[in-house]
Amino acid sequence: MLEAVELKDGVYWVGAVDWNIREFHGYSTTRGTTYNAYLIKGEKTALVDTVKAEFFPEMLSKIESIINPAQIDYLVVNHLEMDHSGGLPQFMGLAPKAQIVATDNGIKGLARHFRGDWPLIKVKSGGELSLGSKTLQFLEAYMLHWPDSMFTYVKEDRLLLPNDGFGQHYASYQRFDDELPSLEPVMEEAAKYFGNILMPLSPLIPPLLKKVGQMGLEIEMIAPSHGIIWRSHVERIIQAYVGWSTGAAENRALIIYDSMWGSTATMAKAISQGMSQAGLENKLLHVRKNHYSDIVKEILTAKILVIGSPTLNEGIFPSVAQLLSYLKGLRPLKKKGVAFGSYGWGGEAIKAIEGEMKAMGIEVLEPGLGVIYVPGDNDLKSCFQLGERIAHSL
Ligand code: FEO
Repeated sequence: MLEAVELKDGVYWVGAVDWNIREFHGYSTTRGTTYNAYLIKGEKTALVDTVKAEFFPEMLSKIESIINPAQIDYLVVNHLEMDHSGGLPQFMGLAPKAQIVATDNGIKGLARHFRGDWPLIKVKSGGELSLGSKTLQFLEAYMLHWPDSMFTYVKEDRLLLPNDGFGQHYASYQRFDDELPSLEPVMEEAAKYFGNILMPLSPLIPPLLKKVGQMGLEIEMIAPSHGIIWRSHVERIIQAYVGWSTGAAENRALIIYDSMWGSTATMAKAISQGMSQAGLENKLLHVRKNHYSDIVKEILTAKILVIGSPTLNEGIFPSVAQLLSYLKGLRPLKKKGVAFGSYGWGGEAIKAIEGEMKAMGIEVLEPGLGVIYVPGDNDLKSCFQLGERIAHSL
């Protein structure tokens, strides 16, 4: 039997570790992930969220190490997405007296997902549910990141269960931040998660954090539904969210490009040399050699995006166009950029990149730099000088 892990007196992790997932609806998950479900036991018992359907037996085994599921009174649905609700129908089949607790949008979404006939309790922000010695308090987190999203707070334990919020796709045999040899990989995954999932919803985050304060929710532990539980670095992850959601970034440039025959790549290197010479930290990211979800993680914390593409069929090279399309949906905050690229005759990609940048609110620092066919010495000097000017603009 798989054992549950106790977080607080009477609060247990009953989730599952997905060590080998490498792709999560298009997002690369090189470090795997976890689906965290939590069992809270007072005089009554609640399960908060379930796991992806295929991991249901693992969750069940952990629940059974604590309680017979038939004795569970409530299933709190913080979020409907299938990685958290996939096990819901199987669980409800084993828990005949369980009532489902969700927001109005959660209840509507449940009907669309499962069409089950289960007893439902609708809750709003500030609503409470007593388990006897434990009290659950709810906070609607509309559009963070689905309309149904909700945070559950266990008052007596000062424990926040924010589902996807503060999560990271990080598989580990350890459950807590302070058990890891280094927190940096987890912070990296938290940033990647924020960049790819929450970045377009950034404006909603500071008001939600403010509401947490107004409701007087003191937070001693944050137990998200993916990855590691924050116990010793609660303030660090909250402050990281404050920064990411307000567009705080480092004086750092990313040169993001693709190249057909090496000319745009040569330009990228010369721009990088100019930046380096002027003391600006920079990094080259070839879009077909880096997963787009990793590029977005880098973009989250860089002020400058220099985007290069050859011109193909009077437009942007497909790999660069794909990245820009994805990035536009993520609505990056407070970025500045310049376009560049090699071309044979038309050079339309440069203007098209600038158009995409402006459409997503990136400030274009200066007209893009184009080079016909292969860059010569003067062209490379221009690229170098562009890198220097960008560096000096900071
Ligand atoms: Fe982890 Fe939005 O699901």
